[in-house]
Amino acid sequence: MNDFLLKINGADVPVRAPGEETLLSVLRNRLHLTGTKYGCGEGQCGACTVLIDGVATRSCQARLATSTGVSITTIEGLEHGGLLGPVQQAFLDEGAFQCGYCTSGMILSATALLHDHPRPTDAQIVGYMDGNVCRCGTYPRITAAIHRASQLAVAGEKGGSGHAHE
Ligand code: FES
Ligand code: FES
Repeated sequence: MNDFLLKINGADVPVRAPGEETLLSVLRNRLHLTGTKYGCGEGQCGACTVLIDGVATRSCQARLATSTGVSITTIEGLEHGGLLGPVQQAFLDEGAFQCGYCTSGMILSATALLHDHPRPTDAQIVGYMDGNVCRCGTYPRITAAIHRASQLAVAGEKGGSGHAHE
């Protein structure tokens, strides 16, 4: 066992655990942040996706010892003051899930996508989200939700600044 200090959803979080433990296991089993899901455990499905310094990362492949000194965002960190983040809200509005098992990872990957491409094309969405698997086949609604989140973000900018950006 070793002591580590993680930064998760803006808070400093002390963890005592073996350094080789996966970040996914730490999040779920030690910190009870169970919104992050265990799918394949092999980096192939995207269910465990979190953001590390804004980059979509498979937490089943990240080790505790190498997850310090970075900013980790989980699905729980996208909600603020009881308000869902725009990507969460868009997935809800579009009903972009069936069983919901892939949804956290999808939303985190989509958040990273929209940071890089605020107005993504269908091709950019398909390319970026390629590593996130939905066994329920809700891909068309996920694509629609990402477009909706993009529009929500643009609308938010207009409302916040009072200036049109397009
Ligand atoms: S559980 Fe990590 S990619 Fe599948
Ligand atoms: S909604 Fe079931 S795996 Fe995607």
